[in-house]
Amino acid sequence: MSSRYRVEYHLKSHRKDGFVDWIKGLLAAPFVLHAVSQDLEDWTTSQRVRSQYAQIFKDIEVLIDNKMDFDARSQELEKSGAGELEYELLGKSRLKQLVPTIGSFFTELPLEKAFLWGDSHGAISDRRMVAPSFNDVRRILNTAQVFYFKDNKRRLNRELLKLVTFDGDVTLYEDGGSLTFSNPVIPYLLTLLERNIRVGIVTAAGYDEPQKYESRLEGLITAVHDSTSLTQTQKRNLAIMGGESNYLFQYYEEGTSEYGFKTVPQEEWLLPHMKDWEDRDIQQTLDFAEKMLYSLKKRLNLPEEVPIIRKERAVGIVSGERFDPIIQRQVRVGLQREQLEEIVLTLQSSLETFLPARRIQFSCFDGGSDVWCDIGGKDLGLRILQRFYQPSDPIKASETLHVGDQFAPIGSANDFKARLAGCTLWIASPAETVVNLHKLVSD
Ligand code: IMP
Ligand code: MG
Repeated sequence: MSSRYRVEYHLKSHRKDGFVDWIKGLLAAPFVLHAVSQDLEDWTTSQRVRSQYAQIFKDIEVLIDNKMDFDARSQELEKSGAGELEYELLGKSRLKQLVPTIGSFFTELPLEKAFLWGDSHGAISDRRMVAPSFNDVRRILNTAQVFYFKDNKRRLNRELLKLVTFDGDVTLYEDGGSLTFSNPVIPYLLTLLERNIRVGIVTAAGYDEPQKYESRLEGLITAVHDSTSLTQTQKRNLAIMGGESNYLFQYYEEGTSEYGFKTVPQEEWLLPHMKDWEDRDIQQTLDFAEKMLYSLKKRLNLPEEVPIIRKERAVGIVSGERFDPIIQRQVRVGLQREQLEEIVLTLQSSLETFLPARRIQFSCFDGGSDVWCDIGGKDLGLRILQRFYQPSDPIKASETLHVGDQFAPIGSANDFKARLAGCTLWIASPAETVVNLHKLVSD
């Protein structure tokens, strides 16, 4: 890559998803070549375009199956302690060659069926001016993941899904909001619990006490408490993983009036490799990130009112407030999109070369109006819950589904890491979460 290209690639790559973009590119060809007729009654063209889009999705399904075979063989080699030569002889799957940033797939994805369903509702192949978009593809991938669990449940007559985890902000409620009584997601969360599926809220929001979560999730815990169909065991299947992977709280009830979340002591859930993290490395990582944030605040000439917040397991820069003498009111002082991106990318790349940070795990992300560096990550958050609920035989990635809004590649989003530990749905609003849950649980 020439250096100019490399710099531009680096600057934009954090916003792109290689796989979604690649699919979009494949669909552009039939759109450009065939979706040309402007006659609104021309069903023949629509049918031809539809079958071409569907064929593309069918072909991608096969490439995914092939990649899963490759990954399984590669894991076998790892288990057998194979050398470099064996890996070289195995080569790369075709999908990895075509999309180098591709991650792991834990289940097959019925993409053709999902496309035909999406097309019957969204008339993608009837469009003549707007090609299949990033959001069209993102939604089709979500539908395929939901169909996988639904179809297999019907076929095998048992639930394959054992754990569903949700991000908080933008996924369950609006950014900075709360889960109130009227939130339409609540009945779906109760339905999952009724089906003996564990429900975890895996959020970056980090508080070491349960009260803050109880007040933000009041609508949910009251609904769980008031439910007459849930057993006590099913109710205890609701948990919160806070601060990415730093604090675990489980739903509890005592008597008839006491209920909420109870802190689960770290000894009961810390993953073996997390026990090896030195507290000194954690503190030095946060000190370094904090110092970087102060330097960036100065260098980027950010408003004085924008505070830097240091917590036990996180440090962040968030929007502030100032008094406006003209309107005689406090007004919000936020950060611009470019400032947020500059901060998160600088923070991430500096920490990557900082030794104490390399000995532990951390997540830097741009939350839309703030930037955080948290110790740990959502991949660990999911793995902790997988083991917490089934200590002797942890829930598998193929039995786990994480729903979140932050899936841009590493360095600026925090749900992205959940992809390492489970299947995912990439949603863009709380309403989309409800749409997908409806599809998942309805008969
Ligand atoms: P999530 O979408 O549920 O993962 O929550 C992300 C949001 O939580 C961030 O954008 C912040 O506004 C907020 N937040 C509150 N405390 C923390 C923290 O300790 N670390 C990271 N984010 C935090
Ligand atoms: Mg979020």
